[in-house]
Amino acid sequence: MSSFAAPARRAFLFADPAAHSLSPAMHRAAFAWAGLDGQYDALRVTPDELPGRLAALRHDPAVLGVNLSLPHKETALALLDTLSDAARQIGAVNTVVRQGGALHGHNTDAPGLLEALRDAGMLPAGKQPVVILGAGGAARAAFYVMQQLNLPTFVVNRSPERAEVLIGSFGPKHEARALNASQVPWEKVRLIINSTSAGLGRPDETPLPDFNFHRCPRAGVYDMVYQPAETRLMREARAAGLPAENGLGMLAHQARLAFCAWTGVDVPLPVFRGALTGGPA
Ligand SMILES: NC(=O)c1ccc[n+]([C@@H]2O[C@H](COP(=O)([O-])OP(=O)(O)OC[C@H]3O[C@@H](n4cnc5c(N)ncnc54)[C@H](OP(=O)(O)O)[C@@H]3O)[C@@H](O)[C@H]2O)c1
Repeated sequence: MSSFAAPARRAFLFADPAAHSLSPAMHRAAFAWAGLDGQYDALRVTPDELPGRLAALRHDPAVLGVNLSLPHKETALALLDTLSDAARQIGAVNTVVRQGGALHGHNTDAPGLLEALRDAGMLPAGKQPVVILGAGGAARAAFYVMQQLNLPTFVVNRSPERAEVLIGSFGPKHEARALNASQVPWEKVRLIINSTSAGLGRPDETPLPDFNFHRCPRAGVYDMVYQPAETRLMREARAAGLPAENGLGMLAHQARLAFCAWTGVDVPLPVFRGALTGGPA
């Protein structure tokens, strides 16, 4: 007699490298909390392999979807059937949902950042300006959020021309300028978001060298970097009495939103945070 067990739900991370990802721990904890028979695996997928890997998912009924990380967030756009408004405007997909043989691209980094800023009490009220450090994919997600909130935004990047390109690609509606750090009216700034990779794995590196945080006494600092848990940027901000948070909240929220898009289950945030920190957060 043969038995046909319902297929286990499966989700993946496609990235290169993939070995040190924290996503499997979060999504496995979420499957367990939700009581769902599911498995999440991080797979090393090279750029050459991405089209074939995505195509292979289409007709596998067990597959809920995938997360995409470096270097696939931008190149995947052309390989998917539909894109959410956020994914299209940001130009990056971090979550793919498989439905009926079609692949739908989403960006949960942007709403993940928004939720993390809200949790940290760092969302500016009114029209208080924000500084985004960086002009890569993560900066584009941050810019999208600031555009949605209609907050004046200064983009400061090591390569200034990339900051100009970023702002230009979102169109003229949003009040935004590309500036050097020395040109920013720091005394007005309410929020600084680090979306560079400066400080990632390097406790002595900062995207704002020789910066005096007393120049922006009203600002909070949100660092998307979460390794180390306290970056130099955060350390220096805190030493000047400013609130500062690392990127673990954003990481947990983007995973929560991806899991919800796949399963329809909104697993509580502490399940994801607990998987990151080894216990309830
Ligand atoms: N917490 C989360 O959930 C989350 C989510 C997404 C991303 N992130 C983090 O965000 C960071 C950026 O990711 P991404 O995908 O946007 O990377 P990316 O596209 O490669 O962009 C990297 C950015 O960092 C800048 N940069 C790199 N090294 C720098 C340095 N030493 N000093 C100043 N600027 C430097 C680059 O400037 P140039 O243009 O001059 O090269 C560029 O603007 C990474 O650390 C990533 O882990 C976190």
